[in-house]
Amino acid sequence: MKAIIPTGGRGTRMQPLTFSANKHFIPVANKPLIFYSIETLAQAGLRDFAITYNLGYLDMVKHFLGNGSKWGLNFTYILQEKPIGLANIVQVCASYLRGEKFVLHLGDSIFVDGIKAIVEQFLQRKPNGLVTMIKHPQNNRMGVPYFDKKDKLIKYVEKPPKPPHQYAVPGLYFADANFFKCFRGKDKIKPSPRGEYEIPSAFQWMIDHEFLVEVIEYQGKWLDPGKFDDWIEANQYLLDRFTQTNIKGTIDKNSQLENRVSLDKKSQIISSQIRGPVQIGKNVKIVNSYIGPYTSISNGCQIIDSSIENSVLMENVNVTDVKLIDNSLIGKDSEIHTNHQAKRSHIFFVGEKSQISL
Ligand code: G1P
Repeated sequence: MKAIIPTGGRGTRMQPLTFSANKHFIPVANKPLIFYSIETLAQAGLRDFAITYNLGYLDMVKHFLGNGSKWGLNFTYILQEKPIGLANIVQVCASYLRGEKFVLHLGDSIFVDGIKAIVEQFLQRKPNGLVTMIKHPQNNRMGVPYFDKKDKLIKYVEKPPKPPHQYAVPGLYFADANFFKCFRGKDKIKPSPRGEYEIPSAFQWMIDHEFLVEVIEYQGKWLDPGKFDDWIEANQYLLDRFTQTNIKGTIDKNSQLENRVSLDKKSQIISSQIRGPVQIGKNVKIVNSYIGPYTSISNGCQIIDSSIENSVLMENVNVTDVKLIDNSLIGKDSEIHTNHQAKRSHIFFVGEKSQISL
């Protein structure tokens, strides 16, 4: 069986960050989002991965992921010419799969407790297709499974306005080569109103043609950092669950660390208080500042005379003399400082679709 991870899509819900970067490479708990899906699949025993990308993004994707060897995996990059849906992602991987079974794991979904048991179930029971489900209060913005009285999957619909229950299908799908039959013949699947070949349409085609498609409930925690507040929440959850004290940088005598803090190489904490769970990357300098719980700070940031909590700072952010930054997601190379000259004014140099709350 081979794995497929998409890195494309429009990323509209994460603008403005996605104007310059692909959302899969924005960090959550100091790790690019897509690393979670790679590591989850690797732990479940997958070795061969198709990484799909959209035009213009290959260099960036390769820069972050390489050929897979840093995880002991083999990556093959496959172009999806237009972002026209998840079923199309699988379709463009047809010649790579050569008739093998596949698992499609969305690059923006995190199955925190692993997927090994589900992979084994698919390989042992050998249905033609298998999808996972979770309970979600807003399942009208997801794919939703419908069941008959015997709990058999009879229908699978993308974003139904009024789902009959709270179940939804998160980003993990399995199938054998029969999946590809939905792209052929007179009744082949068609794009949805949003112009996409939806993944539920492909599985619905299989159900309608009497292939066996099963559903299994995911018993662990699923995170979907698709938009700003979900991102902050996912960062919080992962920092809380996985931060371990690990100090590789230096901390001076005038600083205090409380709770779990991880500090990477060549980073310095000077006259500051850090209250974990907090993760701090490489070459970070924190001087005369307070860093509070649930904050992740990427490589190269500088924080001077400031306070920050419950936030994500991407690479090389400079913060100077700012009272409290809370609940924030700050893009690469940003600068935030207090303007002492013009006390009553704020000076902005912000991009399209930024959100500022003063
Ligand atoms: C996609 C799928 C949807 C699924 C969801 C999981 O939705 O189309 O079926 O439930 O991912 O995250 P989208 O993110 O394109 O709205």
